[in-house]
Amino acid sequence: MTPEVIEAGPVRLRPFRPDDAEDLAAGRDDPVNLRFNPVMPQPYTVADAHWWISEGAPAAWRSGGAAYAIVDAGTDRLVGGAGLSQVAPGRGQAELGYWVAPRARRRGIATATTRALAAAAFQAGLARLELLIRAENPASQRVALAAGFHLEGVRRAAGLDRDGDRYDLLAWVRLADDPPGPVPRLLPDLPDGRLTDAVVTLRRLAPADAEVLHRLHTRPEVVATRVRPVPPTRADIDRRCAVAESDWLAGRAADFALCDAVTGTMVGGCALIHDEPATGQAMIGYSLLPEARGRGLATRAVRLVAGWAFGPVGLARLWAGTAPWNTASQRVLTRAGFHREGLMRARLPAPTPETPRPDTLLWSHLPTDPPPPPSSPPPPPPPG
Ligand SMILES: CC(C)(COP(=O)(O)OP(=O)(O)OC[C@H]1O[C@@H](n2cnc3c(N)ncnc32)[C@H](O)[C@@H]1OP(=O)(O)O)[C@@H](O)C(=O)NCCC(=O)NCCS
Repeated sequence: MTPEVIEAGPVRLRPFRPDDAEDLAAGRDDPVNLRFNPVMPQPYTVADAHWWISEGAPAAWRSGGAAYAIVDAGTDRLVGGAGLSQVAPGRGQAELGYWVAPRARRRGIATATTRALAAAAFQAGLARLELLIRAENPASQRVALAAGFHLEGVRRAAGLDRDGDRYDLLAWVRLADDPPGPVPRLLPDLPDGRLTDAVVTLRRLAPADAEVLHRLHTRPEVVATRVRPVPPTRADIDRRCAVAESDWLAGRAADFALCDAVTGTMVGGCALIHDEPATGQAMIGYSLLPEARGRGLATRAVRLVAGWAFGPVGLARLWAGTAPWNTASQRVLTRAGFHREGLMRARLPAPTPETPRPDTLLWSHLPTDPPPPPSSPPPPPPPG
């Protein structure tokens, strides 16, 4: 690419200038930036900024890539950076990257930049652009979706952090003939970030929920209902919470924290696993901490998720599986409007090599099923 100025709505992309150094250092030296760009110096000083402006960026241009300052279209002051690297001219592809200074985030700058830079790159003859993003970076994945990039898969151990540890990167890709976005999502965001009936609130699982989720999923009676009845490690649960938003954006699963609507305390979990998008059906699962059981909260949660799944998500069928012995879970499903369909013989992996593969009872719920009777009012809270 040649270093021509690109107008991008509220911002402009132009080559760096020496007087950008202060803004460049201030914008780059931020924990989120440093976390998701581990090749950058830490701390990122004004001297580093001068080096980038006089040597790093010119080298990027010479290698066939691009290194733009993102500047406010009105003031011309730097608010971020974006570029193209790893250009493979023979295959017409390159990697796109961006960052925005903390003070300028959540104003659509990265999205406008990515759309404009991608258009310029395709105009210059490239056929395929890649964005490599950590699963723990939902803001960047939202930029990818908004700018017309599709999730292709995982590049295992493609990233290398400061400590020498390798990590996976998601490959989001846009082709020259893909529309500019946004890419439609299988699982939309929740209205106002939650589903609630004033007794139970469901919200997206977040990194801070790991402790409660670990306590829940290591209880023996909950472990017994897991697909492999083995307690997860704390690292497994940390990861599940850290990538919950990524899984949601990718349309794989909607993983919910199930909370008391009055206190906001997390008392359980619920998940919609989008396991068969091609047929418009998904699986639901749930579990509660012992102190929250016996109050109809799981039934309320399943009803809320079913309403969302048949409404904004547009699913045609929900299914659930219970162990034949799990009468409490079967009661939840019946009260939430599910029908028992049959027995899936030897559906699950055997807990030990000596035991047989367990059967699973199959339950389903359709949007056309008659609505279940309303939930009874919640019992009064325990004394004290
Ligand atoms: C990722 C980054 C560039 C986004 O910049 P931005 O200008 O704030 O992005 P936009 O305003 O265009 O927002 C795009 C979407 O992300 C969402 N978003 C922004 N920050 C978010 C956050 N911290 N958490 C969740 N979503 C976020 C916006 O709401 C918007 O969502 P929508 O399209 O669903 O409405 C910025 O957060 C950043 O510089 N991060 C550090 C560097 C980095 O991660 N670079 C990318 C490496 S792959």
